[in-house]
Amino acid sequence: MMVLDGKIAAQAVKNQLQEQTAAITAQGKPSPHLAAILVGNNGASETYVASKVKNCAETGFRSTLLRLPQDCSETELLAKIQELNQDPDIDGILVQLPLPAHIAENKVIEAIDPRKDVDGFHPSNVGRLVQGLPTFIPATPYGILLLLDHFQVPTKGKHAVVIGRSNIVGRPMSILLSSAIAQGNCTVTLCHSHTQNLKALAAEADILVAALGRPGYVTADMVKPGAVVIDVGITRVEDATAAKGFRIKGDVDYAQVSAIAGAITPVPGGVGLMTIAGLLKNTLQAYLQNRG
Ligand code: GUN
Repeated sequence: MMVLDGKIAAQAVKNQLQEQTAAITAQGKPSPHLAAILVGNNGASETYVASKVKNCAETGFRSTLLRLPQDCSETELLAKIQELNQDPDIDGILVQLPLPAHIAENKVIEAIDPRKDVDGFHPSNVGRLVQGLPTFIPATPYGILLLLDHFQVPTKGKHAVVIGRSNIVGRPMSILLSSAIAQGNCTVTLCHSHTQNLKALAAEADILVAALGRPGYVTADMVKPGAVVIDVGITRVEDATAAKGFRIKGDVDYAQVSAIAGAITPVPGGVGLMTIAGLLKNTLQAYLQNRG
């Protein structure tokens, strides 16, 4: 059994990005600049955004964190996005999700200039992804592709089963794995809350991607011996013995499944770290595309 260690793979990607960035700044050019907008102070979102900012610094990127209050209006947020769209010194823009219920997520996503949409959530970028055109691949699916690449996991002709159809992970992941790309060419089954026989379908997967957000959902009986298991879950579960009062649990029952899988991502230390690597790669891509 191979552990697909996100720490190792993410570090390899970040080292490469750091070198590329150093080469840019050595020419006297400015470094890539990411703008992140955080509305309110959801605990998990705070953690993710802080990690994005920290990783930018480690890579030699600049980042700006813009905070808006939980009760800010949709108009205010849209105005802020317009400002960033028009700022030539901003290469990438991300609005941390989820947003408060009174703000329409789709309106916000559509307001971001697709050329700066480093999350790859804008409908025009999603359309490009579906058609196999150059685009920004959403950070988590991108990170998973980078992980499969790093550990040289073969995908061609394999049966991939993705559990979860979110716009952020499951849906784009299913499209990418079926695409004619290096980490693609799979036959893909996309499972969701209305899937019948999910357990039996999962058990047929050569590559199983769990992205449904239910801690410990994937048990050993749902996994084919030798399968590659990618755990996207990052749910906070209460744990009185943990320093913060919670710990992070994946969608896969790691103890059970690691005993029969051929390869598996740990949680934490797996896909989560790769997500950041994907975002950083998109930010450099935006810089190179927009500033030449
Ligand atoms: N919330 C959960 N995942 C993501 C992500 O990849 N990007 C943003 N902006 N928000 C998220």
